[in-house]
Amino acid sequence: MKFGDLRGILQYVPQFRGRTFVIALDGAVLASSAFSDILLDLAVLRSLNIRVVLVHGAEFQIQRLAEKRGVILTSCNGIGVTDETTMEVSLDAITRVSSDIMQKLSALKIRAASANAIHAHPAGIRKGVDFGHTGEMEKIDGESIIGFLDQDILPVISPVGYHSAAGTLRLNSDAVAMETASIIDADKMIFMVRESLDPLFEKLGGRQITSAGAETFVSSQTDQADWSISKMEHAFEAAKHGIPRTHLISIEHEDALLAELFSNAGVGVMISDESYQRFREATPGDIDELMFILRRAVDSDKILRRSREELLAMLSDFILLEIDGNVVGCVAVHRGNDSSAAEIACMYVKNSHIGQGYGHLLLEEAVRKAAALGATQMFAISTQAIGFFELCGFSRKEALAEMPEARREKWETNGRNAVLLVKALD
Ligand SMILES: CC(C)(COP(=O)(O)OP(=O)(O)OC[C@H]1O[C@@H](n2cnc3c(N)ncnc32)[C@H](O)[C@@H]1OP(=O)(O)O)[C@@H](O)C(=O)NCCC(=O)NCCS
Repeated sequence: MKFGDLRGILQYVPQFRGRTFVIALDGAVLASSAFSDILLDLAVLRSLNIRVVLVHGAEFQIQRLAEKRGVILTSCNGIGVTDETTMEVSLDAITRVSSDIMQKLSALKIRAASANAIHAHPAGIRKGVDFGHTGEMEKIDGESIIGFLDQDILPVISPVGYHSAAGTLRLNSDAVAMETASIIDADKMIFMVRESLDPLFEKLGGRQITSAGAETFVSSQTDQADWSISKMEHAFEAAKHGIPRTHLISIEHEDALLAELFSNAGVGVMISDESYQRFREATPGDIDELMFILRRAVDSDKILRRSREELLAMLSDFILLEIDGNVVGCVAVHRGNDSSAAEIACMYVKNSHIGQGYGHLLLEEAVRKAAALGATQMFAISTQAIGFFELCGFSRKEALAEMPEARREKWETNGRNAVLLVKALD
């Protein structure tokens, strides 16, 4: 990590303070060497006043225990049939996992409590098949969970539910995470898995999708054994229940949890219906940020130096590109009344975001603004982004008759030796 990264990280701290995240760890994650680091990451989140609820799975441990005992399971993920033997193995494995989590949290001096918060009833007989000890969630005691959080106690929730007559019932941990997040109005639900996300990125064609996109993905999958289906299914259910964002991350990526939460780019898949990326006009409150982000480009003579007063005077010309509430780039469109040509100026994308298409996006937005202002031509005066403008359809010119006189004089006399690039608007 570079020290400069700290600025980007700190931008998220006020946004996350007091928020509630439900983090669901697959059994395989708990069995991995990454688990100790994940617990340290949870401690980091809690130190930033993020309220964390942990939901754990145990499929991996149930399978291992069944192999060791030489028994055959009817199902190990809490969705299918849970017969007597499967229930016995599942309960033993889940109890061990839960106690292991508690022991590790206590070693980190994190106060935690395991809650019997889920009331369930037997799933019953479906299409003629008795689902045995598989449960269906009836009610989650959200008040108890919130009560723990209010006392700075980390609730740990296991994939089991309780019924007065049927006893303990096996539940699916993805469903438990989704229902828990929904009942306590969590701000985020985060699924952590061991599997690589690369095939999923490919299938989804990106890392951010809407809940409708997740639903379409689920209905188009033919391999029902694919682990990602359950995650995506519960992600779109979570969106329906008002959870703004669900993240799916893999421990294949080092420090996945913190990297996903504290960077714009992220490392996992985010399922959200919120607008994550937007353009907006600059306001006087943005002036310090603008001065800050443009300073480096000015220092290396990429952008013309402008005083605070000059920037304030042209503030309404600025378009800012915001990702997740953080400004990552800007561009200004100047159009004087006396000219049909609009100047594209102060085009800048933060170092952390260059080469990801944001420059093109900003320029497209600038073109829209120039056209809306009635310009018929655009020009840019550049020293070090000449190739970028050419890539975007601008051509080098010696002169432009429509350039405002004052601008032409400045260009010719300021000694920067910058190149004029022009593009006609359709
Ligand atoms: C110029 C700038 C805005 C481009 O932003 P970006 O987000 O990196 O650009 P994109 O990701 O949309 O486009 C990347 C493409 O542009 C090219 N490109 C980016 N900057 C370039 C430059 N300075 N010169 C030549 N080509 C450049 C890349 O090589 C890449 O080409 P490819 O698609 O063929 O691989 C950004 O590099 C920047 O802020 N530069 C410093 C400030 C500056 O010079 N501003 C111009 C003021 S007039």
